Amino acid sequence: MKDLTPKRDSLDPIEIASIDEIRALQLDRMKWSLRHAYDNVPMYRARFDEMGVHPDDLKSLADLGKFPFTHKTDLRDNYPFGLFAVPRERIVRLHASSGTTGKPTVVGYTQNDIDMWADMVARSMRASGTRPGDIAHIAYGYGLFTGGLGAHYGAERLGCTVVPVSGGMTERQVTLIEDFKPTTIMVTPSYMLNILEQYRNAGIDPRDSSLEVGIFGAEPWTNAMRAEVEAAFDMHAVDIYGLSEVLGPGVANECVETKDGLHIWEDHFYPEIINPETGEVLPDGEMGELVITTLSKEGLPMIRYRTRDLTRLLPGTARSMRRMEKITGRSDDMIILRGVNIFPTQIEEQVLSIPELAPHFQIELTRDGRMDAMSVRVEATADAADDAARAATGKMLARKIKDVSGVTAAVLVGPPGSVERSQGKARRVIDNRPKE
Ligand code: DLL
Repeated sequence: MKDLTPKRDSLDPIEIASIDEIRALQLDRMKWSLRHAYDNVPMYRARFDEMGVHPDDLKSLADLGKFPFTHKTDLRDNYPFGLFAVPRERIVRLHASSGTTGKPTVVGYTQNDIDMWADMVARSMRASGTRPGDIAHIAYGYGLFTGGLGAHYGAERLGCTVVPVSGGMTERQVTLIEDFKPTTIMVTPSYMLNILEQYRNAGIDPRDSSLEVGIFGAEPWTNAMRAEVEAAFDMHAVDIYGLSEVLGPGVANECVETKDGLHIWEDHFYPEIINPETGEVLPDGEMGELVITTLSKEGLPMIRYRTRDLTRLLPGTARSMRRMEKITGRSDDMIILRGVNIFPTQIEEQVLSIPELAPHFQIELTRDGRMDAMSVRVEATADAADDAARAATGKMLARKIKDVSGVTAAVLVGPPGSVERSQGKARRVIDNRPKE
């Protein structure tokens, strides 16, 4: 793989500023953001008043702990525009994420927000090893989802030639990569596997493709998956994180030279880790739920937004800003099976550790009487697809899952192509248990 470390003088000065400088900037911006939310959003004013806190009470960054949390339900309860902090006419863009139930979550951006977003994605791409002048193939979905357009504006801001392919039509993705020769691809990791499979079906060696770096996010993925994709394409696989409520892609990103967790762009987003049960703020290094406060957003300021994503904060390495560890999963995705907690990423690691299995999997939860049961559907690679080989591989996976999690899973090893393929965010868990 090529050394794509960006030159130090191409970075934003704040990325490598001293911690003191970063903290001072954060304090100034946090004061502004709390004041902006309080003055312009009735919900924030009511919540702050109820708790007896005022933006003027913030004297240090630690004082943020006195302020109330914001939850996803707050966006739903104020659907569609109730949390906007500027007149609707100043909102130049809306995005929305489809909830599993009921109304979508709607988010809005002013022109300044769109500019900041483009800057953050450009910074993320540069950290990933993309350079101005590169061709960037964007296969995140375009539309209400923030992935496509978020990546698009950032890639333009960095100075790339942008190919706005969006998701789907996998054969065409391969044709366009072969013909246009992009060096960067931005796509969900699960859809990248789909593209990889298409390469193989077409008889083209993915290692010969022009791709040098993949910027993967929007869903959890493991270091085992990184190793798989990096080896298959002979390219760097770098993690990008974000969420619509806070921005979209570009809240945090790994650096290609270290790949040791995602640097949070702390000049615009202030992270905290809390104990999800008690709400207590935990020290850096401890595992918990990520909470984010936006420091500069105009349209939709978010104060202490509970992301539900589980990670820990670590000190900066390639940049001064703190890192978050690769996300294990969301508290919503945690499977609780007979009292044992397990995340789809734990299953992914085990699937990828068995060479006879393709990297696709899906988990199904069912209830048999009063007992919950988990089955894991995987598929054999083409050269390990006879019945005996599949049965042996299934046993091996079941044993590995039992060893790491203590859970007994029924493993079904199907023939190549039998597991549902992802077009964007993979659906890892199908919960067929009766609703309580
Ligand atoms: O998925 C934004 C995005 C687009 C990020 C493209 C990266 C690339 P939402 O649809 O609102 O926004 O979903 C946000 O997706 O709270 C996480 O649970 C999950 N997620 C996003 N990035 C990662 C990642 C976009 N790198 C939710 N690793 C978040 C693990 C991720 N989970």
